[in-house]
Amino acid sequence: LVAGVDSSTQSCKIVVCDAATGEVVRTARAPHPDGTEVDPSAWWTAWEQACAGDILDGVAALAVGGQQHGMVTLDSADQIIRPALLWNDTRSASSAADLVEEFGGAGAWAEQIGVVPVAAITVSKVRWLARNEPENLDRLHTCVLPHDWLTGRILQARGGFEAWTTDRGDASGTGYWSAHTNSYREDVMALAAGRSFGVPTVLEPNAIAGQTDSGMLVAPGTGDNMGAALGLGLQPGDVVCSLGTSGTVFVRAADPIADESGAIASFADAAGGYLPLMCTLNAARVLNAGAAMLGVDFDGLDRLALAAEPGAGGLTLLPYLDGERTPNLPAATGSLHGMTRANATPENLARAIVEGMLLNVAAGVDALRAHGVHIGRVLIIGGAAASRAVRQIAPLLMGAPVEIPAPGEYVGLGAARQAAWALAGPGADLPDWPVEITCRTEAGDADRSAEIAARYREVLRRTHGIG
Ligand code: XUL
Repeated sequence: LVAGVDSSTQSCKIVVCDAATGEVVRTARAPHPDGTEVDPSAWWTAWEQACAGDILDGVAALAVGGQQHGMVTLDSADQIIRPALLWNDTRSASSAADLVEEFGGAGAWAEQIGVVPVAAITVSKVRWLARNEPENLDRLHTCVLPHDWLTGRILQARGGFEAWTTDRGDASGTGYWSAHTNSYREDVMALAAGRSFGVPTVLEPNAIAGQTDSGMLVAPGTGDNMGAALGLGLQPGDVVCSLGTSGTVFVRAADPIADESGAIASFADAAGGYLPLMCTLNAARVLNAGAAMLGVDFDGLDRLALAAEPGAGGLTLLPYLDGERTPNLPAATGSLHGMTRANATPENLARAIVEGMLLNVAAGVDALRAHGVHIGRVLIIGGAAASRAVRQIAPLLMGAPVEIPAPGEYVGLGAARQAAWALAGPGADLPDWPVEITCRTEAGDADRSAEIAARYREVLRRTHGIG
């Protein structure tokens, strides 16, 4: 058996699978506080709660997938200096803008590093620390990511810890590790912090990070999106749209992409290649807020939205309820446009909520297309994949067939698959695990879709000067 862990923004989930077939034999989960600034010890408590009982009995190898980018600051005794600033914390927005300029502009970042810093990227958080908490910067010895920290902490507690480690996928979200050269950039670390600092060793995709006293192998682990890519066994042309706390759109690619607009980050994946990705701060929770506003449940929101015509009678929602990362509008708020006495119905409002959330992420599909990526199908996963309205409206707005994989913990599954790969030893192929697709909807009317997208872009241009 192998185990995969998903230490996400909201909880710790463990999936235990048969190493040969990927069949899930048991799962466990425990919540931890969410928010944008969290003490990593809460992730440890959640891991211990999820581990209670016999969940890891018979597990020969384990890997951790975790939320990307979070800045975990450790002193020289490996003690946590301050709560981790997470991917969704926007206080580092002006630090990001300064770094872009000081390094020679967005083009230089895209060409040399693969990402253009925004508030989410770790390097921006390090600059924020240097500027706002110099006493904490003085104590900073090592900076690790959430999955690195949990992996190391498991090894510290169970024996087998030698050094902090990470993988290419998560390292590529720091902004100071270049996916183009596969190496840390000490100059970028010094630009952010005024000096260099300790960083985890980047392991090969199926290497071993350590072995516990009980003999369990611990694989490198990876970022959650890279984990989901492994769990879904992506093929060329497969675009994933993950609609959870964050909205992400990504593909696996053999080569990096340099996007100086900053919309697509050229991350590495967890299998030796690349994972060009766009991320928004507003996804499934827009639907929750919309349902609450209309006084209905999730199902009620679906029913209302599907009772309205495409285009929501002319209503357009810019869904920036949590500010936004792509487009880079950290201080933006949500706004509704085009309301008249004729179109102001609960049905149109529900439709505008679903369409606005989807149009915001569909920009990622368009951006990949613009970089020449072939879009064969879009696989929607995450909490909002359960919404009937999302399933029916997404193919129209994304201009591609949409398939829904069976509900599953794809980040945890991907981590488990990496663990099975590490268990198989050096030189082994990534094990082939099947993924079940539950429904497929063909792309809708392209003209209608173009009309809705054009109106959305026009509202964005008028409201925020973008587009
Ligand atoms: C991706 C990103 C989020 C987090 C949390 O760049 O910031 O998807 O990984 O899930």
